[in-house]
Amino acid sequence: SGDKDEQPVIKKRVKREAPNGRVHIYFGSQTGTAEGYAKTIADEANRRGFDAEVIDLEDFDDDHMTAPLQLFAMATYGEGEPTDNAHQFVDWLKASKDSGILDGKRFAVFGLGNRQYQHFNSMGKLTDKYLEKAGAERVLEVGLGDDDADLEADFDQWRENLWSTLGVVEESGDVQASLRVVYGTTPTKPLQSSTQFYGSKATFTVTAKRELRTPKDGGSTIHVEFATEAPYETADNLSILPRNCSEDVSMVVDALRLGGSKQFSLDTDEDRVPFPSPVAIHDALAQYCDLTAFPKRGTVAALVRAAIQAGASPSDAPPSIDQKDVFGKWAKDAPTLARAVAKLKPLFSSVEDTTSVFATLLEKGPRLQPRAYTICSSSKADAELHVVCAIAELPHKQRGVCSAYLADLQVGDVVRGVVKPSAFRAPITKAPVVLIGPGTGIAPFRAVLRERAAALKGNGASGAPWGPARVSSAILYFGCKRRDEDHLYRDEMSDWDCTLHLAYSREQKHKVYVQDLMRKKNNSEALASAIIDGGGSVYVCGGTSMGSAVLEAVKDALEARLKDRAQAEKYVQSMHDGGRYVQELWS
Ligand code: 2AM
Repeated sequence: SGDKDEQPVIKKRVKREAPNGRVHIYFGSQTGTAEGYAKTIADEANRRGFDAEVIDLEDFDDDHMTAPLQLFAMATYGEGEPTDNAHQFVDWLKASKDSGILDGKRFAVFGLGNRQYQHFNSMGKLTDKYLEKAGAERVLEVGLGDDDADLEADFDQWRENLWSTLGVVEESGDVQASLRVVYGTTPTKPLQSSTQFYGSKATFTVTAKRELRTPKDGGSTIHVEFATEAPYETADNLSILPRNCSEDVSMVVDALRLGGSKQFSLDTDEDRVPFPSPVAIHDALAQYCDLTAFPKRGTVAALVRAAIQAGASPSDAPPSIDQKDVFGKWAKDAPTLARAVAKLKPLFSSVEDTTSVFATLLEKGPRLQPRAYTICSSSKADAELHVVCAIAELPHKQRGVCSAYLADLQVGDVVRGVVKPSAFRAPITKAPVVLIGPGTGIAPFRAVLRERAAALKGNGASGAPWGPARVSSAILYFGCKRRDEDHLYRDEMSDWDCTLHLAYSREQKHKVYVQDLMRKKNNSEALASAIIDGGGSVYVCGGTSMGSAVLEAVKDALEARLKDRAQAEKYVQSMHDGGRYVQELWS
């Protein structure tokens, strides 16, 4: 548009010597990984004689795709959906089929996905297919990154192939960090931060917290209650933005000799900064960098390069860490980014001014990501918002950053978060519901059953009746290891008005799972009847392998009733299509 006041999306940039021409790198990112990958590609492209620019697909419009080479880092979200920032682009791309609009352009796509999901890398594949349909020429086969195995290794391989296919080699020379740190409290210029998350004003104050497993069980699953003004629907998710622990923050402040309480602002030629500033150094490190993440080779190599550029002696640098196996050994006793930075302290000690190293850490290090938890309270029946959280033990005996954060929360602490809609809606209808949620998969069903219980009593938190209670019958399948170890919400489960089936997997010689109970003759008949005679719905929440086993059990139940496998398959498909078979699964 010709509106003078409107900000041009692509801002003026530092001019580069670029014998290989311009390249645009687009990212479709939900949690920031694809965005980070796009930046890595841009860095490497710039070091190979390109003039690279990273573009958020959120900002995509028809004027884009002007560079001769277009690269994509495309994440797939949920059930094969585009990421939030990529919807508009995907619509445009589909509509550009056979238009020839991209004639003469070249492209390559790297997809970020997880093989545990049915729609593995569907966005990467779709983008790859439709770019070609719109006339562009593929320079490299689509990369199908698999987070279930080793996403970073897949990405490394794809980039290696890309640069060798394009026949471009790395030039030596300085790398210009695109993010600069300016000490002081005055912002250099007003800059928008890239994540809307930080704009959220919603706060959640901890009012109660308790352990749901017994001491007999080694694991930990906690129940947290929050007071909040934020509106939510029953069984929505709460995305919580964690903070790093102060030990990790101190390690970094110490290694880089930063005055923790000093304020700084971010400055850049790009459109956006990764987080709002001015901000105190320790707040930035606590709230925006994931210091608990396993250090990536690329991040550590960038820190080393920045330190040497700032005057560190190369002899203090760890040798050959850009080789994968060497780096693996080096990182063994530094399994978190904080510890990796601490391990580089001798290198940083000869750097007089570590500002550029700090800026490199902020730019290259992983951003702290919100983690989503299923809300397990009813917005109508409960005054406060509850979440259930399994405290994850990572392989290197480090707790996940958000787990650790939640586990250490105290009553009165204030948490930053955002409510996100989920696939589950409380089905308060006449038709029966079959709810299957072993382990923490119980969370949305606790919410649903609390809401039903309140509806049956004819009152909610406000005390107002909900009118004629059109409440369905419910069948619940829950599974855990042993009744006296990890039976979450055991005490209140008996108050839930439902037919309860409990699979205690380890109380007998052979494992018994929810799907095994569903296959018992009576249960299978009741299941088929609820679905076919009652027009009921099935809701499944939990691990992916449980999800597929449960789906098979439902098909078997329907087959027994319909006396025909093909009919049963067709019926389940119609349930999927009609929103009567809803699942939220994770790997
Ligand atoms: P297990 O750990 O004894 O194998 C909650 O985690 C419950 O789900 C546990 O009882 C666990 O059993 C069970 N579980 C693990 N894998 C499962 C699967 N593929 N299908 C169903 N339940 C499973």
